[in-house]
Amino acid sequence: TVVRISDDALALACGADEVAEAFVAAGCTVERVSSWGMHWLEPLAEIDGQGFGPLEPGDVSAVLAGTSPKAIGAIEAHPFIARQQRFTFARAGKTRPLSLEDYAEHGGWQGLAKAREVGPEATIAQVTESGLRGRGGAGFPAGIKWTTVAKAQADRKYIVCNADEGDSATFADRMVMEGDPFMLVEGMVIAAHAVGAQKGYIYIRSEYPHAIAKMEAAVRASAHLIAPFELEVRVGAGAYVCGEETSLLNSLEGKRGEVRAKPPLPALEGLFGKPTVVNNVLTLAAVPWIMANGAAAYAAVGFGRSKGTMPIQIAGNVKHGGLFEVGFGITLGELVGDIGGGTASGRPVRAVQVGGPLGAYHSPADFHLPFDYEAFAAADGLIGHAGITVFDDTADMSRQARFAMEFCAAESCGKCTPCRIGSTRGVELIDRIRARSGRVPDKVEALPQMHNARKVERTLADEIVLLEDLCETMKFGSLCALGGFTPYPVLSALRNFPEDFGADLTREAAE
Ligand code: NAI
Ligand code: SF4
Repeated sequence: TVVRISDDALALACGADEVAEAFVAAGCTVERVSSWGMHWLEPLAEIDGQGFGPLEPGDVSAVLAGTSPKAIGAIEAHPFIARQQRFTFARAGKTRPLSLEDYAEHGGWQGLAKAREVGPEATIAQVTESGLRGRGGAGFPAGIKWTTVAKAQADRKYIVCNADEGDSATFADRMVMEGDPFMLVEGMVIAAHAVGAQKGYIYIRSEYPHAIAKMEAAVRASAHLIAPFELEVRVGAGAYVCGEETSLLNSLEGKRGEVRAKPPLPALEGLFGKPTVVNNVLTLAAVPWIMANGAAAYAAVGFGRSKGTMPIQIAGNVKHGGLFEVGFGITLGELVGDIGGGTASGRPVRAVQVGGPLGAYHSPADFHLPFDYEAFAAADGLIGHAGITVFDDTADMSRQARFAMEFCAAESCGKCTPCRIGSTRGVELIDRIRARSGRVPDKVEALPQMHNARKVERTLADEIVLLEDLCETMKFGSLCALGGFTPYPVLSALRNFPEDFGADLTREAAE
């Protein structure tokens, strides 16, 4: 019997190795494959297309005897998989990550062959027509970025893959690198061919040891197929801000990971001052499919200006966490309720943070929102890298707002004042609001004051106005998204969950 079990980091953390050993001990042949992305079922074993999970070593004999209560039926027919439109994750669960043979058998290298056949200009035209937008969060059209780099005159150009996936609830980049690394290699070679770059770097966060190992192995194994283009894996040191493209470039150059002012755009003066394509893993990974299947097939899916599919990552307090790739336009409510199955705790959903630690906290009143860059921006939020974190009704939203400021203070690169100082003042301010609204009653006197020179008496309502003011300053005065977007979680928590900021007290005081 051949048993397929993932060797992705999440499956390993859930005990996949031990389950694999138990199958081997029972006389089975075990193949280690990528993960299907149904995280609540890991470790998931597949035998002849049938799934079993989440397994423990003790479940193996019942699985082999056909009596396991953990049988989930045919994996491809499982509603979580059957409802998806898997373009980027078409091979997920199906191939051995480092097998060149499996990759080629399942459609690998077809996009590159097409790009080589049609030439650089037509390749860029395809990417432009597909409507593919930057999947790191900003949603900038990839075709325009590539055109800028292609047109720039320089002796050297670079492709930099941003694999510093730092958002809470996100794991799609990791799944690509651990599950289908040759797809990322292929996307980068296509980009290099299109813009005329000689060298590419994959900048991976150090917290991803399995992704680093797999990408390094994939780069070595495919070097002969991609020459003369060269690829190198570089490991970041774990700063969230190094996911910002200019600070990433500084880090790659061996400098401190501090944000650079734009302009110049990296597309014109990027790595070592040369024209550079900086794209997120998911952007580059979408390209082989687009080239192999045509721009029109990609653009036919989606919503408004958000074309194609988005690998959405569902996490937090949710029953069915995992990777759900689907065309843009699915509503937030469908994602959390129908697909995620509601909270794991069984309690009502109170808040959903979309887009990582800088994304807004939405209440169920926003469940009608279609997953789309513009729709979320219009609702004072962002889809970011498409991570969704679900919270139940025990969540304390002023505490979450404090966490956003604290996170910003810890991760700030320190270059600009609204972020460096504003975030620390923001933590203090939220502490005072929490104290005055009775959430941490014993601490109020011990809290630092905004002005050192004289003690200013402020009411709770005054403090809230001050917090809103501070958020405005950070939003418009910060150099990059870290300081500029921290107000999103703070203000959304304040607006959507005012009761957690003492709204009852301010109302009473006003009356
Ligand atoms: P941005 O809007 O300044 O730039 C987007 C991209 O387009 C950049 O690569 C920029 O260089 C490029 N670009 C802009 N104009 C161009 C032109 N005319 N020609 C060629 N290229 C051009 O946004 P930024 O600051 O890069 O990213 C902000 C976004 O990052 C936010 O929307 C947020 O959602 C996201 N974000 C993602 C995180 C993650 O972990 N994935 C974490 C934090 C924020
Ligand atoms: Fe650095 Fe923060 Fe300014 Fe960004 S907003 S440049 S992280 S100090």
